[in-house]
Amino acid sequence: MFDDLTGKVAIVTGAGRGIGLAYATALAESGMKVVLSDILDEEGEKAAAELRGKGHDAIYIHADVSDQESVQALARQTAEAFDGIDTLVNNAGIWGDLEFASVFDISAERWDRSFAVNVKGVFQMSVAVAPYMKGRPGAAIINQASTAPYIATPRTADYSAGKAAVITLTKTLAKSFGDLGIRVNAIAPGGIATEASLNKSVNLFADEQIAQQCVKRPGQPSDLIGPLLFLASQASGYMSGQTLVVDGGKTMTA
Ligand SMILES: NC(=O)c1ccc[n+]([C@@H]2O[C@H](COP(=O)([O-])OP(=O)(O)OC[C@H]3O[C@@H](n4cnc5c(N)ncnc54)[C@H](O)[C@@H]3O)[C@@H](O)[C@H]2O)c1
Repeated sequence: MFDDLTGKVAIVTGAGRGIGLAYATALAESGMKVVLSDILDEEGEKAAAELRGKGHDAIYIHADVSDQESVQALARQTAEAFDGIDTLVNNAGIWGDLEFASVFDISAERWDRSFAVNVKGVFQMSVAVAPYMKGRPGAAIINQASTAPYIATPRTADYSAGKAAVITLTKTLAKSFGDLGIRVNAIAPGGIATEASLNKSVNLFADEQIAQQCVKRPGQPSDLIGPLLFLASQASGYMSGQTLVVDGGKTMTA
């Protein structure tokens, strides 16, 4: 069903570990040429080497998504290495390093850094790749949102507001890039059991949390792969500007 991805070129940001690594692996296993990007160079290089060891076409390129020159270089280097770009997965985000804190304890510096990565990063990555994706059949951008804006937890005001901005940005980018033939959609995961989530000071997977879900188990990175491949491929060719909530049926936003 997703065989239209074979031979195409994808960038995954924040691909050194966690969900980003799972995304990059799934796209490579679908036959895509994959650029893994991160600020964690050791993890990113190792992950790309492991994918190459399994016969996949994968390279690592360092890029800080909050830095405009860095993202422009990532887009240019990817297009040079693989002759264009078909898919961008804006997964990088400040999540693992995010301390839960009340609104009274979130500094202006933290707020700015959070928005620089989680919001501006998505915006400027998308704008940087658009000229290279323009007119390529099946061109697609997938943004990593979250159910945090729907839950509005008071412990992560900057993160929740930033992910709400990602959902809105998904719509405005979808409209902006429609003429270029680029679809833009988002995935909003609930709690996903990555190292980053499991190391939080609050147990996101406690029994009372799982009890609120229809699917009575913690989410895993593998639960996001079907939605990712769907949004990257022509299986979703008539969808743009949408956010898919993947949270075991906890929030039910609509
Ligand atoms: N795990 C969850 O429960 C969950 C739920 C909803 C959404 N998300 C989102 O999914 C994404 C991945 O989450 P994860 O659980 O794998 O966490 P994670 O912290 O392990 O992954 C984030 C990745 O982004 C990278 N990154 C951070 N700042 C960057 C920057 N400036 N430039 C480039 N890369 C940068 C990190 O190095 C890391 O590899 C994040 O956007 C997160 O907000 C996670």
